[in-house]
Amino acid sequence: MPGLSFWLAVMAGLVPAIHVLLKDTKRKTWMPGIKPGMTGTMSYDRDDIPQRAFFGRRKGHPLKPRQQALFDTLLPRIALDLAQPAPADLRALFHDADDVRLEIGFGGAEHLIAQAQARPRSGFIGSDAFINGVAKALAAIDEHKLGNIRLYFGDASELIDWLPDGALSRIDLLYPDPWPKRRHWKRRFIQDEMLTRLARILKSGGELRFATDIADYAAYALARVLRSKDFVWTAECADDWRKAWPDFAGTRYEAKAKREGRVPGYFSFRKI
Ligand SMILES: C[S@@+](CC[C@H](N)C(=O)[O-])C[C@H]1O[C@@H](n2cnc3c(N)ncnc32)[C@H](O)[C@@H]1O
Repeated sequence: MPGLSFWLAVMAGLVPAIHVLLKDTKRKTWMPGIKPGMTGTMSYDRDDIPQRAFFGRRKGHPLKPRQQALFDTLLPRIALDLAQPAPADLRALFHDADDVRLEIGFGGAEHLIAQAQARPRSGFIGSDAFINGVAKALAAIDEHKLGNIRLYFGDASELIDWLPDGALSRIDLLYPDPWPKRRHWKRRFIQDEMLTRLARILKSGGELRFATDIADYAAYALARVLRSKDFVWTAECADDWRKAWPDFAGTRYEAKAKREGRVPGYFSFRKI
């Protein structure tokens, strides 16, 4: 199997060809929606926002009593209510926040929690659709008494369209589901239209961070960013993608990827 550097080199030389090869196929036009306050149940509403289908897992192990109690008591207090309009200034969701950051697909929430602890003056929105991940986030928020996190339990795609223009200083998309089979590439989170939607909610000069351990997802994402009018890749040297961000504490998925011998790639894109 060629390494990530091989794929990046190939990509750099073959971007125009990749554009042709990686044309998006038509998207599905339904999506399941988890509404605010719903914990673990699903509704399928074809008339709901039809931009993207959610393809991941939503349910796993049954919740333990303490986790269920946090779903009943803590989640309603910190969950974003997409039935209400978003505040024009998103910082109003937090107590005295300087800026607001979003993590899409936080998984076990290790990174979300570490970031919220390291930056008490930033507000963090975490989104995941997997019930056991949300349970972990709730347990850690409760344990560390963190007041600067709001959660959206559902498809981040819905949240993205709810957020106001230019609301965020950073978006983190860390090890999104790789969908390695070619016929599933259209399920990957990074698509041309998603980059446009992410650009809308980022401030000018804001950062989109993307990490993956899957070489062809790196190439796939870079091809889309390079043809986007909204983002530039901030890499300054050839092996820039090998270096983790200085404030990055890693994620559970990353640790597993490293254990299994895969090489992480780290990409920073700046909103123009
Ligand atoms: C491969 S895991 C990575 C988790 C974490 N970022 C990490 O690095 O450990 C991908 C995560 O994204 C979540 N996810 C996938 N699609 C999503 C979507 N449309 N909205 C919110 N979360 C999503 C999954 O539930 C899962 O927790």
